[in-house]
Amino acid sequence: MVDTADPLSAVKLNAEALMKAAGRRGRSPLAHVVLRLARVRWLRSRVLKFVLRLEGGEMFSLSYRDHLARTMDVEVGLYSYGGLLKPGALPPGSRVGAYCSFGTGITVRRRNHPIERATQHPFFYNAALGALYRDTIETDRENPISIGHDVWIGDGATILSGCRSVGNGAVIAAGAVVTKDVQPFEVVGGVPAKMLRLRFSGPIQTHIEAAAWWRHSPDILMRRPDLFLSEMTVEAAQALETWSNEVRV
Ligand SMILES: CC(C)(COP(=O)(O)OP(=O)(O)OC[C@H]1O[C@@H](n2cnc3c(N)ncnc32)[C@H](O)[C@@H]1OP(=O)(O)O)[C@@H](O)C(=O)NCCC(=O)NCCS
Repeated sequence: MVDTADPLSAVKLNAEALMKAAGRRGRSPLAHVVLRLARVRWLRSRVLKFVLRLEGGEMFSLSYRDHLARTMDVEVGLYSYGGLLKPGALPPGSRVGAYCSFGTGITVRRRNHPIERATQHPFFYNAALGALYRDTIETDRENPISIGHDVWIGDGATILSGCRSVGNGAVIAAGAVVTKDVQPFEVVGGVPAKMLRLRFSGPIQTHIEAAAWWRHSPDILMRRPDLFLSEMTVEAAQALETWSNEVRV
């Protein structure tokens, strides 16, 4: 039984499984070959599922990340997972950090219909419909989004074109409609989303940013579970920074 009052009591039970999963990172040569079949549209989703299975799922697969980068120009850091990793969920040019958690039903919209013109219908702004040589409003590619490390986005959140960046460690609440940039460690929610609170005080944020622990793999992080499971005080954040910058990988 895990004692929930003492999170450290869970570590011995879980560390081994995590190490095993972390050991799966890397590219499978078979995935590299199979991915060529993803060019065939009707095979694509099955091929991608197979590649994910070969390489330990979304959190770990490097070939899946290569595919997103090559075909969508979307770069995703390791150990991030969830709805936003589906091809097409993020506009070209977008960047996502490591260790992000994305719920289901998240929508990222990159442009508004031109409501100031006589008509807002896409015949008059979307070249894909055939009447124009090029789009007459900013394209999705011209407004990519940057999502930091260890960001958590809850179910059903909608991120609109006014939000171009979500800072490290930020939280977007379930059902939020985000219209502006989200600062590091902010918890935002509501329609339109407003800051509900900050996760940590300024000094703690500074130490966590300076620690940049997200550059390390989970097997390295699990060497110091006390740093990740204990209450976050300024001293603990300082210890995290020192350890993260000195740890030998
Ligand atoms: C944002 C969130 C993390 C906050 O959790 P919490 O700190 O326990 O928040 P509380 O329930 O104590 O609420 C704190 C305040 O935020 C408000 N709030 C909480 N969630 C909100 C939401 N989704 N939208 C708007 N306001 C919200 C509460 O009404 C409360 O406001 P008040 O202080 O004026 O009463 C949580 O509500 C949430 O949205 N989680 C996402 C769950 C999810 O989608 N999981 C998917 C798995 S990846």
